[in-house]
Amino acid sequence: MPLAALQLERFRCISAATLSFDPHYNLVVGANASGKTSLLEALYFLGRGRSFRTRRLDRIIQQNTADFLAVGRVVNGGVHTTLGVRGSRGSTEIRVSGATAGSAAELALHFPPQVIDPDVHKLLEEGPTRRRRFLDWGVFHVEPFFMDTWQRYHRALRQRTAVLRSSDKSTLPGWNQELALSGEGLAERRTAYLQLLAAPLAAMGQQLLGMKVELAHQRGWATGTTYAEALADGQARDERYGITHLGPHRADIGIRVDGLAAKERVSRGQQKLLAAGLILAQVALQEAYTPGRTALLIDDPAAELDPENLERLVAVVRKLPVQLFVTSLRQDLPGFGVPGATFHVEQGSIRTA
Ligand SMILES: Nc1ncnc2c1ncn2[C@@H]1O[C@H](COP(=O)(O)OP(=O)(O)OP(=O)(O)O)[C@@H](O)[C@H]1O
Ligand SMILES: [Mg+2]
Repeated sequence: MPLAALQLERFRCISAATLSFDPHYNLVVGANASGKTSLLEALYFLGRGRSFRTRRLDRIIQQNTADFLAVGRVVNGGVHTTLGVRGSRGSTEIRVSGATAGSAAELALHFPPQVIDPDVHKLLEEGPTRRRRFLDWGVFHVEPFFMDTWQRYHRALRQRTAVLRSSDKSTLPGWNQELALSGEGLAERRTAYLQLLAAPLAAMGQQLLGMKVELAHQRGWATGTTYAEALADGQARDERYGITHLGPHRADIGIRVDGLAAKERVSRGQQKLLAAGLILAQVALQEAYTPGRTALLIDDPAAELDPENLERLVAVVRKLPVQLFVTSLRQDLPGFGVPGATFHVEQGSIRTA
């Protein structure tokens, strides 16, 4: 069972809440603007150390207060762990079992939430940043040491940029070497992850859309060359503009449906299902590597999908061994079955039914 309990204070319209959760299916019911998405956002924050709605903490902290607090109790294999997040205007403080944690990744090892919300289609529609984040989150759960490579690469990238912009370029060869080495490692792990994701994603594509969905890793530099060669070829241009043009920080995922670029092949509604399918494939893989941990947060699915597509989504979700949190305007949300716990939200106060 992932999340057993949550204590929440001053999080958006929710002044205070103490909640116990069902290990399988939690339904959150309430009118518009009652605080349903805010509750999901708090759960997401507890596992990821950030929101899926905003990067600005001042938007999340309750008006006229200084900070918010979310404390959760997670149970994995009988072991209880307390996770705590305090967000103030300046910073986020993270605690795991009472000790200050160095990064949000420590939360995610215990409680890795995934969300499907009305903005899910942005994963396909927007630029590559979201897709890279999706990709790196996936790699991290298959291979936690990936964090080290990721950090090493980004440190080298910052250093190389600083040297490109300075008059003394003597350390450039050294940074090129470090960037090439860590960048190749990063790209290799991303490629390997997408290969792992191929099978669960193909299954999702069939079940959700009846279509063949395929992914291709675009590494961020030309195929057929090493990253070291690409850096050497591009160095004059990099020096002129003071940035590193090529590399894993420019990577993307190419998404093809029935052999065509996804954007050319699917409707807006199908785009939502396809994006949900990507997340659900990642959930399936994540659960295979760290069983019994994933919380899946689904925000108002009935408003986003027509009944037929909702039914397809529900059929897939019900097969996944996750702890489910679903929001709905109405209590009789079809398909998901009988909730183990129902929460009624009204103007920021939450009552367990
Ligand atoms: N920092 C904040 N402090 C206090 N209230 C806030 C803050 N941020 C947002 N709110 C309010 O919280 C309320 C609940 O928002 P939320 O998005 O959780 O509602 P919801 O139940 O998901 O609604 P909908 O069904 O329309 O999606 C809104 O009225 C919003 O104005
Ligand atoms: Mg909402």
